[in-house]
Amino acid sequence: MSNIESVLVENRVFPPPEAATKGARISGMDAYNALCDEASKDPDGFWSRLARENIVWNKPFTKVLDESNAPFYTWFDDGELNASANCLDKHMGTAAENKDAIIFEADDGAVTRVTYKELLGRVSQFANALKAQGVNKGDRVLIYMPMTVEGVIAMQACARIGATHSVVFGGFSAKALHERIIDAGAVAVVTANFQMRGGKELPLKSIVDEGIAMGGCTTLKSVIVYMRTPTACNMVAGRDTTFAEVLQGQSTDCKPEPVGAEHPLFILYTSGSTGKPKGVQHSTGGYLLWAKLTMDWTFDIKPSDVFWCTADIGWITGHTYVAYGPLAAGCTQVIFEGVPTYPNAGRFWQMIEKHKVTVFYTAPTAIRSLIKAAETDEKVHPKNWDLTSLRILGSVGEPINPEAWMWYHRHVGGERCPIVDTFWQTETGGHMITPLPGATPLVPGSCTLPLPGIMAAIVDEVGHDIPNGSGGMLVVKRPWPSMIRTIWGDPERFKKSYFPEEMGGKLYLAGDGAVRSADRGYFRITGRIDDVLNVSGHRLGTMEIESALVSMTELVAEAAVVGRPDDLTGEAVCAFVVLKRSRPVGDEAKQIANVLRNWVAKEIGPIAKPKDIRFGDNLPKTRSGKIMRRLLRSIAKGEAITQDTSTLENPAILEQLAEKL
Ligand code: WT7
Repeated sequence: MSNIESVLVENRVFPPPEAATKGARISGMDAYNALCDEASKDPDGFWSRLARENIVWNKPFTKVLDESNAPFYTWFDDGELNASANCLDKHMGTAAENKDAIIFEADDGAVTRVTYKELLGRVSQFANALKAQGVNKGDRVLIYMPMTVEGVIAMQACARIGATHSVVFGGFSAKALHERIIDAGAVAVVTANFQMRGGKELPLKSIVDEGIAMGGCTTLKSVIVYMRTPTACNMVAGRDTTFAEVLQGQSTDCKPEPVGAEHPLFILYTSGSTGKPKGVQHSTGGYLLWAKLTMDWTFDIKPSDVFWCTADIGWITGHTYVAYGPLAAGCTQVIFEGVPTYPNAGRFWQMIEKHKVTVFYTAPTAIRSLIKAAETDEKVHPKNWDLTSLRILGSVGEPINPEAWMWYHRHVGGERCPIVDTFWQTETGGHMITPLPGATPLVPGSCTLPLPGIMAAIVDEVGHDIPNGSGGMLVVKRPWPSMIRTIWGDPERFKKSYFPEEMGGKLYLAGDGAVRSADRGYFRITGRIDDVLNVSGHRLGTMEIESALVSMTELVAEAAVVGRPDDLTGEAVCAFVVLKRSRPVGDEAKQIANVLRNWVAKEIGPIAKPKDIRFGDNLPKTRSGKIMRRLLRSIAKGEAITQDTSTLENPAILEQLAEKL
């Protein structure tokens, strides 16, 4: 799997198979173009039609897009709705009522099924419990849960009472949790005693305790603990209660609280170019509309589908395509607690066969690691399972290299299933640029064309259009309903990060480089243009990792972090470190590198651990003292240095930094 292949021009084209076009919601390119025309000729009419058709409103909206306070755009502002009612109550009295909403497969393979009706009862009961714990409309609730039915219930219950949830991925550290509790001003934390992953019982509650013990969580009143395993955990009297305790005596009826369309449904923290994570704030109305619509458009979802998105609820993909989209669409979905390689790397294929999954949505990193596993062990190759239930495959989180695309197409999709390579971001709320399974001819490695209503373009530094065939910056020229509303508590940073003045202040800057093909105008994402890394589809800020490293004050003097291409994880974290003591070599260097790695895992989370660490007497800087990151990126890649190094104070360090441990 060489990275060279991904930069070669791709000529293969796969038109949608007839089975996929027939009966598809958007069938054929004419249908796609007609929707795009409708959106550009009368945007307000287009969006209001879709919002009326796809959302149940308690109070109908009269306004569509309001640009008066740009870039703080609002959508359907005077309308009222409830997100949970649109995912659950809506299906009562229909054929979906007694259908499985969720097929949950635990780490150990145990399967539990929950119908829409049962889910409504359980969400309502937990919503009542939250209210009894003193959680009110507008309050923030932090959710630090494993992949479980209870995780989705906690999110839906917040939505039901108008509380704003902030889910923190279970792999994040106590410190990350602490920062987020304080930044969001959370009144409650919903967590579990442990999580089960790959046969191991991993702690969650003790990490919550550690985070709260760091102090300053003044808004926090209660911690609610789901006992995932029988193992006891520490419980603080007066603060902590179990799920069983809070649910005791609560009714399974809870009237959904109507909220304004702009009411913050959730805050989700993500990495940016500075050290501090951004609390991306999403709306209720516009967000939910797009969650529902993209299920219909991108996955052409039908009530009979068994949808499986493998993302964790701690990421945006797990919000839109686990907690909300599939329920709003009324299909059955699989939720999986474990990891793709346990008990062996055939787990995904086995589960697709077992649950007759029809639409499967996963990340390139997972595909690449399963390719590798299948190449070394025939027994975990997808050919050992019956995958004929599949009709559509999806990819998300990072560019998919054409080799992995071809393998996914051949060995998982049986050359029969369209692959939707969906480009989007935490900030966009849902898919932006993606093929439509019943319309778009596919080109491996390209996310093809924007969805109807999404005015994506490629521009230069000052916002001027760049012709097809040349690379530039990806922007969106018009607001869309599910866009980020602001950064929680930092509207200035929101403006500066996404609507820079240099580009006129009206273009949404995605932060990715992209190029459109000369022939079809298809988009290909070339990677981040800021200091954000994408490791296994997980977003990490280089500055965050640098801050974590230099916070080890007794040992580290200075650190610079860059990404380098990695065949398996897409990108890998590479840290260049100057210690306060002399530069270590040999075994000692390896040992200190491990200390630093574990420190980063503790500060941020294991996903942020640098793969490579190099030590130098100092870092390459310009005369004005700026770290020459481009140079470091070349060194990290193992490339020969072609940049001008004449301004370097100490060129000899380049050799030091190139030295692998
Ligand atoms: C960044 C957003 C999208 C939800 C999961 C990640 C990269 C995402 C693709 C794709 C190429 C992709 C971009 C983007 N990205 N999907 N299909 N092709 N790149 O959400 O953590 O907010 O990360 O992921 O670089 O900016 P996120």
